Parts: sequence; C-alpha cells; structure tokens
Amino acid sequence: MNRRLTGVGPGTPGGALLRRYWQPVALVDELEGPRPVRPVRALGQDFVLFRDEAGQVGLIDRACPHRGVDLAYGRLEDGGLRCPFHGWLFGTDGRCLDTPAEPEGSTLHQRVRARAYPVQLRSGIVFAYLGEGEPPALPDFDCFVAPGTHTFAFKGLIECNWLQALEVGIDPAHASFLHRFFEDEDAKEGYGKQFRGASDGSDLPMTYVLREFPRPRIEVDGTDYGLRITALRRISDATTHVRVTNLLFPQAFVIPMSAEMTITQWHMPVDDTRCYWIAIFTSFAAPVDHARMRAQRLETYALPDYLPRRNSRNEYGYDPEEQAGQTYTGMGHDINTHDQWAVESQGAIQDRTRENLASTDKAIAANRRLLLRAMTAVEEGRAPMMALDAATAVAMTGPATIDAMAPTEGWERHWRAAAARRRAAAPWSAPALAAE
Ligand code: FES
Ligand SMILES: [Fe+2]
Repeated sequence: MNRRLTGVGPGTPGGALLRRYWQPVALVDELEGPRPVRPVRALGQDFVLFRDEAGQVGLIDRACPHRGVDLAYGRLEDGGLRCPFHGWLFGTDGRCLDTPAEPEGSTLHQRVRARAYPVQLRSGIVFAYLGEGEPPALPDFDCFVAPGTHTFAFKGLIECNWLQALEVGIDPAHASFLHRFFEDEDAKEGYGKQFRGASDGSDLPMTYVLREFPRPRIEVDGTDYGLRITALRRISDATTHVRVTNLLFPQAFVIPMSAEMTITQWHMPVDDTRCYWIAIFTSFAAPVDHARMRAQRLETYALPDYLPRRNSRNEYGYDPEEQAGQTYTGMGHDINTHDQWAVESQGAIQDRTRENLASTDKAIAANRRLLLRAMTAVEEGRAPMMALDAATAVAMTGPATIDAMAPTEGWERHWRAAAARRRAAAPWSAPALAAE
C-alpha cells in the first residue's frame, strides 16, 4: 500500500492519478532572462519548457524526436526550439517546422512531432497537463482569482517523496514543536514570515500561542475540494484559538500565513524521491511586496534550481547551542528548513509500515484514504475527485483559511465571520463562500 501511495512514474497507480490534474511544473519567473528555456522533470519524466519569440509558452518532451538529443540545449530561434544536433525545429505545439539537413522539398517534417503538453500560466506558476485526454478545469480558488499585484509565487526542492512533504502540511500539531521559537519577535518585523504575526482578534504572537498551547484538538471534515482541518487550542475557559487549514486534493494545502496573507502550496513530484514545494502567497489586504518576498526566500534557496542552501550535506546548519536556547530544531529561523529536515529525515520514501499514527494524524489518515479511493476510481475508468468540469470549477471558491482568537462558546460561527470579513474587505473581489 505504501508503494501504491507513493509511486508517481508512468504506468503506476499514483502516476496515473496525478496525470489527471494540472501539475505546477515551474515558476513563470524561470522563463525570465535572455534565454527562456528550462529543463523540467515532473512525475519521473523529462520535458523542456520554453517561450518562443512571439511569447508563446510550450512544454515538450526533452528528447529530440530525431535521435534523442537533449533539447534543453536547443537554439531558441525561428519561431521555436531548434535541436543543435541536426537542426530540426519544433514549435511550442510540438510541430516540426523544419528539417534542414533533409533534401530540398522533403515533407518529413509534416510526419514528425514532439509530444507537447497543454500549459497555462496562473498567478506566477506554469501549470502543465501531463495526462491523456481533456485536462480538467482549475477552480476559482482565491490564489487564482487574486490579481498579480496581490499574489507572489516561489518554490524550493525537497529531497524525498512528495506525499511525506504534503503530509507535514496537514499535520497541525507539529507547529507547536518543530517550529517552536523560545522568544517572540515584534509582530511588525514578521512581514512575509509564517507564524510571526498575531491571529485575528488577538495581540498574542502566533509563536507564543503555538509554544504555550501544544495540545490542539483536531477536527477533520470532508469537503468537495478535499479536507478542512480545524485545530483548536483552548487558551482559557472563555477563549479558544482556532486555526483552519485545508487540503486541496490531491497535492496542495491552503493555510494562513499572517493576518493578511495565505499560502496555497503544491507538492510537485520530480520523481519518486524528490519534489518541489511550489506556492502562491495571496494577500487579502495590501499588494504583495514582491521584491521583499523574493529576497527573503533567496536567502534560503539558490537559483537556478531553487536548491535549499541548508540540506542533508551540511546537517541543515544544525547548531546545538541554538537548539538549547533559541529554536526547537537548532536549524535556524526559516520554517521551510525545519519542514525540509523533518520530511527528508524520514527517508527518501518513508517506510509507513513502521509508523504509529496518533490522534494528531487524523488528516493524514483521511488523505491516504482519499488517495486510495481516487486511484481505484481511475483504474475503474471513473473521474477521480477534483477532476473538475468547467461548471463545477467556477462554483468552487475560497477555501476559507484563518487563524482567529474566538470565544470558546461559538467558535464555529466566529471563525467563519472573521474569514468572511477579511474577504469582504479585500481590495480585489474575493468570491463569496458557499454556505455550509
Ligand atoms: S537529434 Fe535532434 S535533430 Fe537530430
Ligand atoms: Fe511545518
């Protein structure tokens, strides 16, 4: 069952399932610069992503259809990507436009094609559809509806199977430990950082709430998009801290980052043992400071491949003194590094036959059941969850995600009202949420 849950290559049940969804294969930023050509590996397959002189973006197989040469070294010219071996030219749609070594008048190019995949650019991410047949529609989630001024995208490599990287995001208990800081910062210094601000309706820093109240009660509800995960921390008889996060089946989660921003984060398998986290930060208030967000994250990740500077080769910068006095891990203040260490240290593919799930792992167990059910659906020729048609996709909005300090009596109504208030006040038109 662990193999079934974790395999992503062509011909595997997991690979067949993930090929039914749009995959976030790159950042639009990666196509900036003088030569917009990038090799991309996704779901165990190799592709080349490029933008032609007319601005059209295409994703085609990386091996040249002539004799298999690497098209990532191609020449970007004459309306396409030209193979350096014998000069065959391919358009973004995969059509062969020229075979310049063939005799004058040859029609060979009309019979040759590179396999091309549908792409769409949304909120700073290049999404590609790597499966057969018609791609599904993307829902009207906030991260797609918000304008470019209010979104920002970034990514980073994680060297383990995608599912364990996703599972850390639907585990609300770990934040009280793995991301514990022994000192709270001024919330005003927290721009662009997870857990550094305060919750809606509170002055208490999130770091304080997580540290002092480490036993959340966790509720998991099935929804049409996946799961809603509610973590309740009882602060006093009168007050309860509510943190609402979501699983967007099959590969993403939506969580609050600060009072104004949320994070929608996918885990895109490179192959069975590596994945990229790739996220859209969405602001419900001021425009996102792109330069600041990017500079903060480039301290942790190195271009051009967004490789983490702290990794298993340098012990993640582990410092026992820091662990004794400042942070729970001793691995610095960037929570991305903590999560990366946690999931990479489980092994390239975690052996789940040896784990012991606890009450805090409710959402992880529920998600595995969803995945297995969806794989069976694909095998039986039915559409899996979230393979949406256009009408269903436009009706799928939100989802609501928030940190709020709520009255212990009536917290359910309170967080919904707080989330609705933030949407109503947003400077872009955040779609109303479906009543539940
Ligand atoms: S291998 Fe690409 S043109 Fe010959
Ligand atoms: Fe985390």
